[in-house]
Amino acid sequence: MSTRDEVLKYLETEGNSYSSGQKIADTLNLSRTAVWKAISDLRKAGAVIEASTNKGYRLVRQTPNLSLESLKKELPEMDVYYFDEIDSTNSYCKQLAAQGAKENTLVVSRKQTQGRGRRGRTFESPVGGIYFSFLLKPRNSSDENLLVTSAISVALTRAIKKVCDKETQIKWVNDIYLSTKKVCGILTEGIIDMEAGAIATMVVGMGINFSTPMKDFADDLQDIVISLYDGEDKVPSSVSQTKLVCAVIREFNLIWNHIEDLSFLDEYRKRSNVIGKMVDLYRNNEKQSGYVEDINDKAHLIVRMDKTGEKIEIGTGEVTLRVKK
Ligand code: BTN
Repeated sequence: MSTRDEVLKYLETEGNSYSSGQKIADTLNLSRTAVWKAISDLRKAGAVIEASTNKGYRLVRQTPNLSLESLKKELPEMDVYYFDEIDSTNSYCKQLAAQGAKENTLVVSRKQTQGRGRRGRTFESPVGGIYFSFLLKPRNSSDENLLVTSAISVALTRAIKKVCDKETQIKWVNDIYLSTKKVCGILTEGIIDMEAGAIATMVVGMGINFSTPMKDFADDLQDIVISLYDGEDKVPSSVSQTKLVCAVIREFNLIWNHIEDLSFLDEYRKRSNVIGKMVDLYRNNEKQSGYVEDINDKAHLIVRMDKTGEKIEIGTGEVTLRVKK
């Protein structure tokens, strides 16, 4: 049996109790360094092992949660890059595209130090979340390309239902909500081919608050964000981050392969938490209120404005929207 498996077996038999590195080393007749290395290898393979300063180690979860091995096994068709920490998976995807990487490139990280959100905002990306981006070849029709974010929104809600058995809603255009708080954000970026004057590659990135304990989010986010599970110990053993990432990719491909038939938009509308609501729209520092009547086949909002009674169509990226309480 390898040292790694010996240490795993030991931690398994200890159950919920902590064991110091010294105790594990003495029992298994290993050096402290060998124990430390085995724990580090187990973590890389996806096991979750908690370390407490005075108490030692405890096995929280043996089945791989997220690892390069498990992702490669489940997604053999993809070129997978996996990091414990990175600045931004979207930025890394862009670098790979500049070096010639093609569709089917997936970058996944357990933490981001410079996670990017829409409109130049930062996206807080602590451990416990899943941050991933993939490259996508654009379609000939620019209308279809503009539907990528809506398609990935539906893919996320389907995947979360299938893997975590949780119902989520889509807040137009690209936030996923669990109850009244944001659980995922999406950032789709285009890399322009200057000579052709067209989008050469798209980068589709998303961050899912998977098992980040609420206490780990900044104070100003407490009322705004939520995790699928409030801590790693709340994640059922049948659920894993790998399963969720793979389900999102699969559901997205199912939609993207038939994007021209627009049928996924019915699901988008059903999952929308803005249709039939009074909203405030912020455009060029100006606030206007209205009632969201529908979302059309371009994924644009149809809003009846309060002041004028006029019905207007609002495209993605034009405004910030707040649902009125
Ligand atoms: C938003 O809510 O404004 C969008 C957030 C998008 C965050 C994801 S996390 C993975 C990918 N890498 C980034 O730097 N951003 C996206």
